[in-house]
Amino acid sequence: MISKECYVYISLPERYEPVTAGKLVLETDDRGVNVGRFIYGKSYLARSEAVELDPIELKLSDKVYQTTILKGVFGAIRDASPDFWGRELINRHLGGQADEMEYLLFSPDDRAGALWFGLNQTPPPPKKTFNQMMDLESLQNYADEVLQNIQSEDVNKKQVEKLLLLGTSMGGARPKAVVEHDNNLWVAKFNAPDDYWDNALVEHAMLKLAQKCGLIVAESKVVSVGKKNVLLIKRFDREKAANGYFRSRMISAMTVLKSGDNHVERRNWSYMILAEELRKFSATAKQDAKELFKRMVFNTLISNLDDHPRNHAFIAKNADWKLSPAYDLTPSIPISIERRDLALECGKYGRFANRYNLLSEASRFLLTNEESEKIIDNMYSMVKNSWYSVARSVGVKEMDCEKIKSAFAYEGFNYEL
Ligand SMILES: Nc1ncnc2c1ncn2[C@@H]1O[C@H](COP(=O)(O)OP(=O)(O)O)[C@@H](O)[C@H]1O
Ligand SMILES: [Mg+2]
Repeated sequence: MISKECYVYISLPERYEPVTAGKLVLETDDRGVNVGRFIYGKSYLARSEAVELDPIELKLSDKVYQTTILKGVFGAIRDASPDFWGRELINRHLGGQADEMEYLLFSPDDRAGALWFGLNQTPPPPKKTFNQMMDLESLQNYADEVLQNIQSEDVNKKQVEKLLLLGTSMGGARPKAVVEHDNNLWVAKFNAPDDYWDNALVEHAMLKLAQKCGLIVAESKVVSVGKKNVLLIKRFDREKAANGYFRSRMISAMTVLKSGDNHVERRNWSYMILAEELRKFSATAKQDAKELFKRMVFNTLISNLDDHPRNHAFIAKNADWKLSPAYDLTPSIPISIERRDLALECGKYGRFANRYNLLSEASRFLLTNEESEKIIDNMYSMVKNSWYSVARSVGVKEMDCEKIKSAFAYEGFNYEL
Protein backbone atom coordinates (compact mmCIF):
# COMPACT_ATOMS: atom_id res chain seq x y z
CA MET A 1 0.00 0.00 0.00
CA ILE A 2 1.30 3.43 -0.97
CA SER A 3 -0.11 6.47 0.77
CA LYS A 4 0.64 10.11 -0.04
CA GLU A 5 -0.85 13.25 1.37
CA CYS A 6 -0.86 16.99 0.87
CA TYR A 7 -2.59 20.08 2.13
CA VAL A 8 -5.19 21.81 0.01
CA TYR A 9 -5.23 25.60 0.28
CA ILE A 10 -7.85 27.95 -1.08
CA SER A 11 -8.03 31.62 -1.98
CA LEU A 12 -11.19 32.85 -0.31
CA PRO A 13 -13.36 35.32 -2.25
CA GLU A 14 -11.71 38.73 -2.50
CA ARG A 15 -8.67 37.78 -0.40
CA TYR A 16 -5.09 37.76 -1.60
CA GLU A 17 -3.53 35.25 0.81
CA PRO A 18 -4.69 31.63 0.57
CA VAL A 19 -5.72 29.70 3.69
CA THR A 20 -5.52 25.97 4.47
CA ALA A 21 -8.81 24.29 3.63
CA GLY A 22 -8.04 20.65 4.33
CA LYS A 23 -6.02 17.58 3.65
CA LEU A 24 -6.00 15.16 0.70
CA VAL A 25 -4.78 11.57 1.05
CA LEU A 26 -4.24 9.37 -2.02
CA GLU A 27 -3.79 5.65 -1.45
CA THR A 28 -2.95 2.85 -3.86
CA ASP A 29 -3.47 -0.65 -2.50
CA ASP A 30 -1.52 -3.75 -3.49
CA ARG A 31 -3.97 -4.50 -6.32
CA GLY A 32 -3.39 -1.02 -7.76
CA VAL A 33 -6.79 0.35 -6.69
CA ASN A 34 -6.71 4.09 -5.96
CA VAL A 35 -8.71 5.67 -3.18
CA GLY A 36 -8.80 9.37 -2.34
CA ARG A 37 -9.84 10.94 0.95
CA PHE A 38 -10.45 14.57 1.72
CA ILE A 39 -11.20 16.19 5.02
CA TYR A 40 -11.79 19.88 5.74
CA GLY A 41 -9.65 21.32 8.54
CA LYS A 42 -11.49 22.18 11.76
CA SER A 43 -10.14 25.72 11.77
CA TYR A 44 -11.28 26.16 8.16
CA LEU A 45 -14.80 25.00 8.97
CA ALA A 46 -14.83 27.44 11.89
CA ARG A 47 -14.30 30.43 9.58
CA SER A 48 -17.45 32.37 8.85
CA GLU A 49 -16.23 33.09 5.33
CA ALA A 50 -15.36 29.45 4.49
CA VAL A 51 -16.59 28.28 1.07
CA GLU A 52 -16.99 24.75 -0.31
CA LEU A 53 -14.40 23.35 -2.77
CA ASP A 54 -17.30 22.33 -4.95
CA PRO A 55 -21.08 22.25 -4.54
CA ILE A 56 -21.47 18.61 -5.63
CA GLU A 57 -19.06 16.28 -3.93
CA LEU A 58 -17.27 18.35 -1.30
CA LYS A 59 -19.84 20.43 0.54
CA LEU A 60 -18.66 22.02 3.81
CA SER A 61 -18.81 19.26 6.40
CA ASP A 62 -16.60 17.57 8.98
CA LYS A 63 -17.01 14.12 7.45
CA VAL A 64 -14.24 12.20 5.70
CA TYR A 65 -15.00 12.23 1.98
CA GLN A 66 -13.88 9.25 -0.05
CA THR A 67 -13.79 8.52 -3.80
CA THR A 68 -12.41 5.98 -6.25
CA ILE A 69 -13.22 7.69 -9.57
CA LEU A 70 -10.45 9.63 -11.39
CA LYS A 71 -7.81 7.60 -9.51
CA GLY A 72 -9.13 8.91 -6.21
CA VAL A 73 -8.62 12.55 -7.15
CA PHE A 74 -11.86 14.38 -6.37
CA GLY A 75 -13.26 16.19 -9.42
CA ALA A 76 -12.71 19.69 -8.03
CA ILE A 77 -9.10 18.83 -7.24
CA ARG A 78 -8.53 17.12 -10.59
CA ASP A 79 -9.83 20.30 -12.24
CA ALA A 80 -6.91 22.17 -10.69
CA SER A 81 -4.41 19.62 -12.00
CA PRO A 82 -2.69 19.85 -15.39
CA ASP A 83 -3.67 17.76 -18.46
CA PHE A 84 -1.56 16.44 -21.33
CA TRP A 85 0.65 19.48 -21.79
CA GLY A 86 1.40 20.29 -18.13
CA ARG A 87 1.78 16.58 -17.31
CA GLU A 88 4.26 16.11 -20.12
CA LEU A 89 6.42 18.88 -18.65
CA ILE A 90 6.25 17.48 -15.11
CA ASN A 91 7.19 14.00 -16.38
CA ARG A 92 10.16 15.53 -18.16
CA HIS A 93 11.10 17.48 -15.08
CA LEU A 94 10.98 14.42 -12.81
CA GLY A 95 12.53 12.14 -15.41
CA GLY A 96 9.71 9.56 -15.47
CA GLN A 97 5.99 9.06 -15.17
CA ALA A 98 4.73 11.20 -12.26
CA ASP A 99 1.74 10.18 -10.11
CA GLU A 100 -1.40 12.21 -9.44
CA MET A 101 0.02 13.70 -6.23
CA GLU A 102 3.15 14.83 -8.07
CA TYR A 103 1.05 16.46 -10.77
CA LEU A 104 -0.64 18.50 -8.04
CA LEU A 105 2.54 19.36 -6.15
CA PHE A 106 4.81 20.14 -9.10
CA SER A 107 2.46 22.31 -11.12
CA PRO A 108 3.15 26.01 -10.82
CA ASP A 109 0.72 28.30 -9.14
CA ASP A 110 -1.19 29.44 -12.22
CA ARG A 111 -3.72 26.63 -12.22
CA ALA A 112 -7.39 27.15 -12.96
CA GLY A 113 -9.59 28.14 -10.02
CA ALA A 114 -8.82 29.01 -6.41
CA LEU A 115 -7.07 25.89 -5.09
CA TRP A 116 -3.41 25.39 -4.20
CA PHE A 117 -1.48 22.35 -2.96
CA GLY A 118 1.58 21.86 -0.76
CA LEU A 119 3.26 19.86 1.95
CA ASN A 120 3.34 22.54 4.63
CA GLN A 121 0.42 23.13 6.88
CA THR A 122 0.63 26.84 6.10
CA PRO A 123 0.21 27.94 2.49
CA PRO A 124 2.89 29.82 0.54
CA PRO A 125 2.36 33.52 -0.26
CA PRO A 126 0.92 34.36 -3.69
CA LYS A 127 3.53 35.23 -6.29
CA LYS A 128 3.88 38.84 -7.26
CA THR A 129 5.37 38.63 -10.72
CA PHE A 130 3.99 37.11 -13.88
CA ASN A 131 5.19 36.38 -17.41
CA GLN A 132 4.94 39.45 -19.59
CA MET A 133 4.13 39.74 -23.27
CA MET A 134 7.78 40.09 -24.13
CA ASP A 135 8.43 36.62 -22.67
CA LEU A 136 6.01 35.01 -25.12
CA GLU A 137 8.54 34.51 -27.88
CA SER A 138 10.92 32.50 -25.75
CA LEU A 139 8.03 30.58 -24.16
CA GLN A 140 6.80 29.69 -27.62
CA ASN A 141 10.24 28.57 -28.72
CA TYR A 142 10.64 26.36 -25.65
CA ALA A 143 7.19 24.89 -26.27
CA ASP A 144 8.05 24.15 -29.91
CA GLU A 145 11.23 22.46 -28.83
CA VAL A 146 9.39 20.23 -26.35
CA LEU A 147 6.70 19.40 -28.92
CA GLN A 148 9.16 18.53 -31.63
CA ASN A 149 10.93 16.13 -29.33
CA ILE A 150 7.90 14.78 -27.56
CA GLN A 151 8.71 11.20 -28.47
CA SER A 152 12.38 11.43 -27.60
CA GLU A 153 14.25 11.83 -24.37
CA ASP A 154 16.22 14.51 -25.98
CA VAL A 155 14.51 17.63 -24.70
CA ASN A 156 16.75 20.22 -23.25
CA LYS A 157 16.25 20.02 -19.49
CA LYS A 158 16.72 23.74 -19.06
CA GLN A 159 13.85 24.53 -21.38
CA VAL A 160 11.47 22.21 -19.55
CA GLU A 161 12.49 23.78 -16.23
CA LYS A 162 11.93 27.21 -17.66
CA LEU A 163 8.48 26.37 -18.99
CA LEU A 164 7.57 24.81 -15.67
CA LEU A 165 8.79 27.76 -13.68
CA LEU A 166 7.12 30.21 -15.98
CA GLY A 167 3.76 28.66 -15.45
CA THR A 168 1.99 26.10 -17.57
CA SER A 169 -0.31 24.26 -15.23
CA MET A 170 -3.57 25.22 -16.93
CA GLY A 171 -5.33 22.15 -18.30
CA GLY A 172 -5.81 21.12 -21.91
CA ALA A 173 -3.66 19.43 -24.50
CA ARG A 174 -2.26 22.41 -26.40
CA PRO A 175 0.95 24.11 -25.30
CA LYS A 176 0.11 27.18 -23.30
CA ALA A 177 1.35 29.64 -20.71
CA VAL A 178 -0.15 32.39 -18.58
CA VAL A 179 0.83 36.02 -19.18
CA GLU A 180 0.02 39.34 -17.60
CA HIS A 181 -1.10 41.94 -20.08
CA ASP A 182 -3.19 45.07 -19.93
CA ASN A 183 -3.80 44.64 -16.18
CA ASN A 184 -5.20 41.13 -16.58
CA LEU A 185 -4.03 37.56 -16.73
CA TRP A 186 -4.44 35.73 -20.05
CA VAL A 187 -4.08 32.12 -21.16
CA ALA A 188 -1.69 32.19 -24.12
CA LYS A 189 -2.34 29.28 -26.50
CA PHE A 190 0.49 28.58 -28.92
CA ASN A 191 0.12 27.15 -32.38
CA ALA A 192 1.68 23.70 -32.63
CA PRO A 193 4.16 22.96 -35.45
CA ASP A 194 1.90 20.28 -36.95
CA ASP A 195 -1.36 22.30 -36.93
CA TYR A 196 -3.29 22.01 -40.15
CA TRP A 197 -4.48 25.62 -40.01
CA ASP A 198 -3.65 28.71 -37.97
CA ASN A 199 -5.32 27.59 -34.80
CA ALA A 200 -4.90 30.89 -32.94
CA LEU A 201 -6.80 32.83 -35.61
CA VAL A 202 -9.42 30.16 -36.21
CA GLU A 203 -10.20 29.71 -32.51
CA HIS A 204 -10.37 33.49 -32.11
CA ALA A 205 -12.80 33.62 -35.04
CA MET A 206 -14.99 30.93 -33.43
CA LEU A 207 -15.15 32.90 -30.17
CA LYS A 208 -16.20 35.99 -32.14
CA LEU A 209 -18.77 34.00 -34.11
CA ALA A 210 -20.16 32.53 -30.88
CA GLN A 211 -20.49 36.03 -29.47
CA LYS A 212 -22.35 37.11 -32.61
CA CYS A 213 -24.69 34.16 -32.06
CA GLY A 214 -25.50 35.54 -28.59
CA LEU A 215 -23.30 33.27 -26.46
CA ILE A 216 -21.37 34.48 -23.43
CA VAL A 217 -17.72 33.94 -24.37
CA ALA A 218 -14.27 34.53 -22.95
CA GLU A 219 -12.57 37.65 -24.28
CA SER A 220 -9.80 36.91 -26.76
CA LYS A 221 -7.23 38.50 -29.02
CA VAL A 222 -4.45 37.33 -31.30
CA VAL A 223 -0.94 38.73 -31.06
CA SER A 224 1.91 37.94 -33.32
CA VAL A 225 5.06 36.71 -31.70
CA GLY A 226 8.09 36.25 -33.90
CA LYS A 227 6.51 34.90 -37.06
CA LYS A 228 3.65 33.09 -35.35
CA ASN A 229 0.25 33.96 -33.98
CA VAL A 230 -0.61 33.36 -30.35
CA LEU A 231 -4.18 33.35 -29.02
CA LEU A 232 -4.71 35.22 -25.77
CA ILE A 233 -7.81 34.42 -23.74
CA LYS A 234 -8.58 36.58 -20.75
CA ARG A 235 -8.84 34.46 -17.63
CA PHE A 236 -12.35 34.53 -16.23
CA ASP A 237 -11.18 32.98 -12.94
CA ARG A 238 -8.92 35.92 -12.03
CA GLU A 239 -9.75 39.52 -11.28
CA LYS A 240 -7.24 42.31 -10.95
CA ALA A 241 -7.50 44.14 -7.63
CA ALA A 242 -5.37 46.82 -5.96
CA ASN A 243 -2.68 44.47 -4.62
CA GLY A 244 -2.83 41.43 -6.83
CA TYR A 245 -5.45 39.12 -8.26
CA PHE A 246 -8.58 37.68 -6.70
CA ARG A 247 -9.40 34.11 -7.67
CA SER A 248 -12.72 32.48 -8.44
CA ARG A 249 -13.32 28.83 -7.74
CA MET A 250 -13.73 26.78 -10.87
CA ILE A 251 -14.97 23.26 -11.58
CA SER A 252 -15.44 21.49 -14.88
CA ALA A 253 -18.60 19.81 -16.16
CA MET A 254 -16.72 16.56 -15.56
CA THR A 255 -16.99 17.23 -11.82
CA VAL A 256 -20.63 18.27 -12.06
CA LEU A 257 -21.43 15.04 -13.94
CA LYS A 258 -19.44 13.03 -11.32
CA SER A 259 -17.73 11.51 -14.29
CA GLY A 260 -14.32 10.55 -15.60
CA ASP A 261 -12.60 9.61 -18.83
CA ASN A 262 -13.06 5.87 -19.13
CA HIS A 263 -15.88 4.34 -21.14
CA VAL A 264 -17.98 3.41 -18.10
CA GLU A 265 -17.61 6.85 -16.56
CA ARG A 266 -18.59 8.41 -19.88
CA ARG A 267 -22.13 7.07 -19.52
CA ASN A 268 -23.35 10.34 -18.10
CA TRP A 269 -21.61 12.64 -20.55
CA SER A 270 -24.81 14.41 -21.48
CA TYR A 271 -25.91 18.00 -21.98
CA MET A 272 -29.34 17.11 -20.57
CA ILE A 273 -27.92 15.67 -17.36
CA LEU A 274 -25.62 18.68 -17.10
CA ALA A 275 -28.59 21.05 -17.46
CA GLU A 276 -30.45 19.17 -14.71
CA GLU A 277 -27.45 18.99 -12.41
CA LEU A 278 -26.61 22.67 -12.70
CA ARG A 279 -30.11 23.50 -11.55
CA LYS A 280 -29.20 22.03 -8.17
CA PHE A 281 -26.46 24.55 -7.44
CA SER A 282 -26.35 27.42 -9.94
CA ALA A 283 -27.55 30.79 -8.68
CA THR A 284 -28.74 31.56 -12.22
CA ALA A 285 -30.05 28.13 -13.17
CA LYS A 286 -32.67 29.04 -15.76
CA GLN A 287 -30.31 31.37 -17.59
CA ASP A 288 -27.45 28.83 -17.45
CA ALA A 289 -29.62 25.99 -18.78
CA LYS A 290 -30.62 28.14 -21.76
CA GLU A 291 -27.02 29.22 -22.33
CA LEU A 292 -25.91 25.59 -22.23
CA PHE A 293 -28.53 24.74 -24.86
CA LYS A 294 -27.17 27.53 -27.05
CA ARG A 295 -23.60 26.25 -26.68
CA MET A 296 -24.70 22.76 -27.63
CA VAL A 297 -26.37 24.18 -30.77
CA PHE A 298 -23.32 26.27 -31.60
CA ASN A 299 -20.94 23.32 -31.19
CA THR A 300 -23.18 21.34 -33.53
CA LEU A 301 -23.17 24.07 -36.15
CA ILE A 302 -19.38 24.51 -36.20
CA SER A 303 -18.65 20.76 -35.79
CA ASN A 304 -16.86 21.38 -32.50
CA LEU A 305 -16.82 17.68 -31.67
CA ASP A 306 -14.23 18.18 -28.94
CA ASP A 307 -16.88 19.65 -26.60
CA HIS A 308 -16.00 17.17 -23.80
CA PRO A 309 -16.83 17.89 -20.14
CA ARG A 310 -13.50 19.64 -19.45
CA ASN A 311 -14.40 22.20 -22.06
CA HIS A 312 -17.35 23.42 -20.00
CA ALA A 313 -16.90 24.97 -16.57
CA PHE A 314 -18.62 26.65 -13.63
CA ILE A 315 -17.14 29.46 -11.57
CA ALA A 316 -17.82 31.09 -8.22
CA LYS A 317 -16.42 34.53 -7.62
CA ASN A 318 -18.17 34.81 -4.26
CA ALA A 319 -20.57 32.31 -2.73
CA ASP A 320 -22.64 31.82 -5.90
CA TRP A 321 -21.84 29.39 -8.72
CA LYS A 322 -22.67 29.98 -12.38
CA LEU A 323 -21.75 28.70 -15.85
CA SER A 324 -18.41 30.14 -17.02
CA PRO A 325 -18.02 31.94 -20.34
CA ALA A 326 -17.51 29.60 -23.32
CA TYR A 327 -13.92 28.68 -24.33
CA ASP A 328 -12.01 26.17 -26.49
CA LEU A 329 -14.35 26.40 -29.48
CA THR A 330 -12.68 24.71 -32.43
CA PRO A 331 -14.15 23.48 -35.72
CA SER A 332 -13.39 20.02 -37.01
CA ILE A 333 -13.73 18.59 -40.51
CA PRO A 334 -14.78 14.93 -40.42
CA ILE A 335 -15.25 13.29 -43.80
CA SER A 336 -18.86 12.35 -43.11
CA ILE A 337 -21.38 14.96 -44.21
CA GLU A 338 -24.23 12.75 -43.00
CA ARG A 339 -23.52 12.16 -39.39
CA ARG A 340 -21.36 13.88 -36.82
CA ASP A 341 -21.41 13.23 -33.10
CA LEU A 342 -20.80 15.65 -30.25
CA ALA A 343 -18.79 14.42 -27.25
CA LEU A 344 -21.87 14.62 -25.01
CA GLU A 345 -25.36 13.28 -25.60
CA CYS A 346 -27.53 16.06 -26.93
CA GLY A 347 -30.98 14.51 -27.37
CA LYS A 348 -33.10 11.36 -27.49
CA TYR A 349 -30.97 10.04 -30.35
CA GLY A 350 -27.70 10.15 -28.46
CA ARG A 351 -24.80 12.31 -29.55
CA PHE A 352 -25.99 12.93 -33.11
CA ALA A 353 -25.30 16.59 -33.98
CA ASN A 354 -28.66 17.10 -35.63
CA ARG A 355 -31.49 19.62 -35.44
CA TYR A 356 -34.23 17.12 -34.53
CA ASN A 357 -32.07 15.49 -31.94
CA LEU A 358 -31.26 18.85 -30.33
CA LEU A 359 -34.97 19.72 -30.23
CA SER A 360 -36.01 16.38 -28.78
CA GLU A 361 -35.08 17.13 -25.16
CA ALA A 362 -35.35 20.92 -25.09
CA SER A 363 -37.74 20.83 -22.13
CA ARG A 364 -34.91 19.50 -19.95
CA PHE A 365 -33.19 22.86 -20.58
CA LEU A 366 -36.41 24.55 -19.42
CA LEU A 367 -37.17 25.73 -22.95
CA THR A 368 -40.45 25.51 -24.87
CA ASN A 369 -40.50 24.01 -28.38
CA GLU A 370 -41.01 27.45 -29.79
CA GLU A 371 -38.02 28.92 -27.93
CA SER A 372 -35.68 26.10 -28.84
CA GLU A 373 -36.69 26.15 -32.52
CA LYS A 374 -36.12 29.88 -32.66
CA ILE A 375 -32.65 29.55 -31.10
CA ILE A 376 -31.67 26.85 -33.57
CA ASP A 377 -33.06 28.55 -36.66
CA ASN A 378 -31.47 31.90 -35.86
CA MET A 379 -28.13 30.35 -35.07
CA TYR A 380 -28.22 28.18 -38.17
CA SER A 381 -28.58 31.22 -40.45
CA MET A 382 -26.04 33.20 -38.48
CA VAL A 383 -23.37 30.49 -38.66
CA LYS A 384 -24.09 29.58 -42.28
CA ASN A 385 -24.08 33.20 -43.46
CA SER A 386 -21.44 34.74 -41.22
CA TRP A 387 -18.71 32.25 -40.43
CA TYR A 388 -16.69 33.25 -43.47
CA SER A 389 -16.92 37.02 -43.02
CA VAL A 390 -16.12 36.73 -39.30
CA ALA A 391 -13.13 34.50 -40.03
CA ARG A 392 -11.82 36.81 -42.72
CA SER A 393 -12.39 39.92 -40.61
CA VAL A 394 -10.11 38.62 -37.84
CA GLY A 395 -7.45 37.66 -40.36
CA VAL A 396 -8.00 33.95 -41.11
CA LYS A 397 -6.37 33.39 -44.51
CA GLU A 398 -8.44 32.41 -47.55
CA MET A 399 -6.52 29.14 -47.69
CA ASP A 400 -7.50 28.27 -44.11
CA CYS A 401 -11.16 29.22 -44.72
CA GLU A 402 -11.12 26.74 -47.58
CA LYS A 403 -9.80 24.06 -45.20
CA ILE A 404 -12.42 24.62 -42.49
CA LYS A 405 -15.50 25.39 -44.60
CA SER A 406 -17.00 21.89 -44.34
CA ALA A 407 -17.26 22.32 -40.56
CA PHE A 408 -20.14 24.77 -40.75
CA ALA A 409 -23.85 23.92 -40.89
CA TYR A 410 -23.03 20.48 -42.33
CA GLU A 411 -25.62 18.58 -44.34
CA GLY A 412 -26.63 15.92 -41.78
CA PHE A 413 -27.67 18.66 -39.38
CA ASN A 414 -31.01 19.01 -41.16
CA TYR A 415 -31.74 15.32 -41.77
CA GLU A 416 -35.15 14.33 -40.47
CA LEU A 417 -35.10 11.56 -37.91
N1 LIG B 1 -10.33 32.15 -20.15
C1 LIG B 1 -10.08 31.19 -19.26
N2 LIG B 1 -10.10 31.48 -17.94
C2 LIG B 1 -9.85 30.53 -17.03
N3 LIG B 1 -9.56 29.25 -17.33
C3 LIG B 1 -9.52 28.90 -18.63
C4 LIG B 1 -9.78 29.84 -19.65
N4 LIG B 1 -9.65 29.21 -20.85
C5 LIG B 1 -9.33 27.95 -20.57
N5 LIG B 1 -9.25 27.75 -19.23
C6 LIG B 1 -8.88 26.50 -18.54
O1 LIG B 1 -7.74 25.98 -19.18
C7 LIG B 1 -8.02 24.69 -19.71
C8 LIG B 1 -7.34 24.56 -21.05
O2 LIG B 1 -7.83 25.52 -21.96
P1 LIG B 1 -8.40 25.06 -23.37
O3 LIG B 1 -8.75 26.32 -24.12
O4 LIG B 1 -9.48 24.08 -23.18
O5 LIG B 1 -7.09 24.40 -24.02
P2 LIG B 1 -6.90 23.11 -24.93
O6 LIG B 1 -7.21 23.56 -26.34
O7 LIG B 1 -5.48 22.75 -24.74
O8 LIG B 1 -7.86 22.06 -24.43
C9 LIG B 1 -9.54 24.58 -19.76
O9 LIG B 1 -9.97 23.25 -19.65
C10 LIG B 1 -9.96 25.43 -18.59
O10 LIG B 1 -9.88 24.69 -17.38
MG1 LIG C 1 -9.78 22.14 -23.85
